[in-house]
Amino acid sequence: MALKIPKIIGHRGACGYAPENTIESILTAAEMGVEWVELDVMLTRDNVPVIFHDDTLDRTTNGFGNIADTTWADLQQLEAGSWFGESFAGAKIPSLEDALDVIIQKNLGLNLEIKPTPGREKETAEVALDVLSRIWDDHSRLLISSFQLVSLETAQEMAPDWYRGLLLWHDDLPPNWADIADYLDVVSVNISQQLATREMVEDIIDMEKAVMVYTVNDAQEARKLRGWGVDTVFTDVPDVIREAMFHV
Ligand code: G3P
Ligand code: CA
Repeated sequence: MALKIPKIIGHRGACGYAPENTIESILTAAEMGVEWVELDVMLTRDNVPVIFHDDTLDRTTNGFGNIADTTWADLQQLEAGSWFGESFAGAKIPSLEDALDVIIQKNLGLNLEIKPTPGREKETAEVALDVLSRIWDDHSRLLISSFQLVSLETAQEMAPDWYRGLLLWHDDLPPNWADIADYLDVVSVNISQQLATREMVEDIIDMEKAVMVYTVNDAQEARKLRGWGVDTVFTDVPDVIREAMFHV
C-alpha cells in the first residue's frame, strides 16, 4: 500500500487557531479541510504516550516542570487551552489514544512525530507504536517521523512496513543526512523552511524521497515551494495555505 502523500499537513492540529496538540486543534484542522494533521508524542512518568510538544509544561499549561516527571493522573488535572485564548479554557492534554480516536472519526491522516524522553528514548517509540498498532489500520495515511535516530530505528525494527520520515533542522544538520535517510529507509525528508533551498529540495527529489517542509504559514512561500517540487507543507494556518495552493 503506497503512502498517500498529502499536500498540506496541519501543524500540531491547526495551531494558528487553537491550542496546539489538543483535541480542539485537531477538530479545527478537520473543519478547515486538511487531509492530515501532525502531532507530537511524548511519555509521561508512568509511560502513557501523550500529545505534547515541549519538554516542560510551563508554556502551554497551568502546570510546570518536566512532562517526563509527571504522571498521567496529574496531567489530567491540568488545563492546556487558556494560554492560547479564554475560549479554549478547559482544553486538556490528550493521550495518544484519545487523539487517535478523534483523528479516525474525522477521517484524517496522521504524521506522528516521536519526541523521545531523555534516558527512555527507545521506550518512547515502543510505547507509542504499540498504541498505534492496536488502533490504526490505514498505513497509507500514517507517517512516523523524528529528529532522533533511535526513534526511527525502533520504528523500523517494530513495524518495518510503516512509513517513516526523517526530520532535519537547520541549526543541527548532520553533514551525512542523506546517508542517514538511506540507512533508515525513510519515505520522506522533512526539512525546516530555513533548509528549503531549491538545491536541497532537488537533492531530496533525486533521492526519490518525498520533500516535506515545516512550518509554512505564508501563501507566497507555499506556492514557491510547490513550484520547486515540494510535496507537502506543514502549516499552522491550513485555510490560508489551502487557499493559496488550490484556490478553495
Ligand atoms: O514535523 C514538523 C515540525 O513539527 C517539527 O518541528 O518543533 O514543530 O516539532 P516542531
Ligand atoms: Ca512536531
